[in-house]
Amino acid sequence: MRHFLIAGNWKMNKTASEGVSLVESLLALASPSSSVEVVLAPPFTAIPAVAHVLSGQAGRFALAAQNVFWEERGAFTGEISPAMLADLGCRYVIVGHSERRHLLGETDDMVNKKVHALLRHGLRPILCVGETKAERQQGRTHAVVARHVTQGLDRVSAEQMKLVTLAYEPVWAIGTGDAATPDQAAEVHRHIRALVASHWSTSISTELRILYGGSVTAGNVAQYLASPEVNGALVGGACLDADGFAKIIRIADSII
Ligand code: PGA
Repeated sequence: MRHFLIAGNWKMNKTASEGVSLVESLLALASPSSSVEVVLAPPFTAIPAVAHVLSGQAGRFALAAQNVFWEERGAFTGEISPAMLADLGCRYVIVGHSERRHLLGETDDMVNKKVHALLRHGLRPILCVGETKAERQQGRTHAVVARHVTQGLDRVSAEQMKLVTLAYEPVWAIGTGDAATPDQAAEVHRHIRALVASHWSTSISTELRILYGGSVTAGNVAQYLASPEVNGALVGGACLDADGFAKIIRIADSII
């Protein structure tokens, strides 16, 4: 039986109290089966309040953070450590999101340090990879995605790979309404799986969950989930509306 992971990346939206209202509405509207894991990634400031609302929902809803720093503690003003996130009940952490790569200068080396810091604490990275429009037009999609995957996951062991989820998020599709076609998504997912098979093993690549992200809505999610290459979705804008996100969860449930 297939299992889907549906993740909602709130980005820099929602105060703690707004986040509580959103999650309360979502819980009233969506009750995923055990085959769909829903992951919510609020901003750091809303994580404790959302964790409180989600208590008792373990197994169906999990918490994620949107970023992490790689050091354990110390003089790193403004940064948040893996232990701090684990202590709040986070199970997943998004790393390498294109907004962090392109707006904040995050490099593959920084992403790799974050991945290792999370794995040391048993936290599950959701590693985002994907090309810009210019890179796609220049025929460099595979090369860019290969760099993000192999450098972002450098020195990650086969055992640790079991904790890793990848999200293919073409930069040109994020927040634009210009979603990748299901064929474009499946084609890059296959490329990622082949890479993972050659760097780790076929069994690791078969088990690896690869999400599609970029303008996913209730209107198009079914097309992505219909492909056996796609193991779920990373949803930005459409997760900020309880009705829309609940619909996405129900659709995932109906496809299982
Ligand atoms: P979007 O964002 O759904 O608003 O395109 C996706 C993401 O950035 O994770």
